[in-house]
Amino acid sequence: MAYLSRTLLASILLLYSGLVAGLTSTLQQVTNYGTNPTKVGMYYYKPTTVKPNPAVIFAIHYCTGTAQAYFSGSPYAQLADTYGFIVIYPSSPNSGTCWDVSSKATLTHNAGGDSLGIANMVPYAISTWGADPNRIFVTGSSSGAMMTNVMCAVYPNLFAAATVYSGVAAGCFVSSSGGVDAWNSSCAQGQVSQTSAQWATQVRAMYPGYTGPYVPIQEYHGTADTTLYPENLGEEVKEWAGIFGYNAAAPTQVLQNTPLSGYTKSIYGPALQGAYFFLILNRR
Ligand SMILES: *[C@@H]1O[C@H](CO)[C@@H](O)[C@H](O)[C@H]1NC(C)=O
Repeated sequence: MAYLSRTLLASILLLYSGLVAGLTSTLQQVTNYGTNPTKVGMYYYKPTTVKPNPAVIFAIHYCTGTAQAYFSGSPYAQLADTYGFIVIYPSSPNSGTCWDVSSKATLTHNAGGDSLGIANMVPYAISTWGADPNRIFVTGSSSGAMMTNVMCAVYPNLFAAATVYSGVAAGCFVSSSGGVDAWNSSCAQGQVSQTSAQWATQVRAMYPGYTGPYVPIQEYHGTADTTLYPENLGEEVKEWAGIFGYNAAAPTQVLQNTPLSGYTKSIYGPALQGAYFFLILNRR
């Protein structure tokens, strides 16, 4: 299931394909990095020169995407060269290369699923590259955006901050029959609506007994997304507002044309921001 239109992908690739050519290093694969029950692929980009105890950004691809496609179609490798950090590109093991954000295992701390495979890349990065455990970040697009929310809900202990581009709330794509990598139309179409308290209870149940901090997060969504309807931004905001104790109905600040022209950014507190952008692609 393609969450992003071909037009949108083509323009992203066109935008960034020039950047891969001038990089200081290349995309590499790690075959054995730790417990990985669903066989998630691990790829990384490590510039020739990195900062001591480098930061790491996990960049999680969209459905139909691959680590290679996200590497060449996003700016993170170029930015890694500039700032001296490492990028890890997990690669989905599922047919159609969506991420499993629906099974009980993936939605439960240390219970298995794609989320555990991704989580176990963190200790590998720390022990192999001396990565700074306090500067591990996660981002993703579409199915990778869903997975970013899932990582923040199920493994909040691992990440310092997250950015989510066009996803759904963690737990929204749940499969009632326990299915792995299942499509959930009611969630996709914005028909799943819960209160902040309900979402927060659901998130906390994904890592029972966890009392540490959750991950500061920015959520972005296009207003004309016809695959993952824009209502999903509201649910993501409610979810994390519930976790952080903010009021999802009352942002502390609303900024027009921020961070770019056409975006409306709402700030709910120090750990949560949401932004709509006027997406004119991806129309049906
Ligand atoms: C889709 O997700 C919702 C929760 O977000 C759940 O109630 C519903 O049962 C799921 N649908 C299927 C077909 O699993």
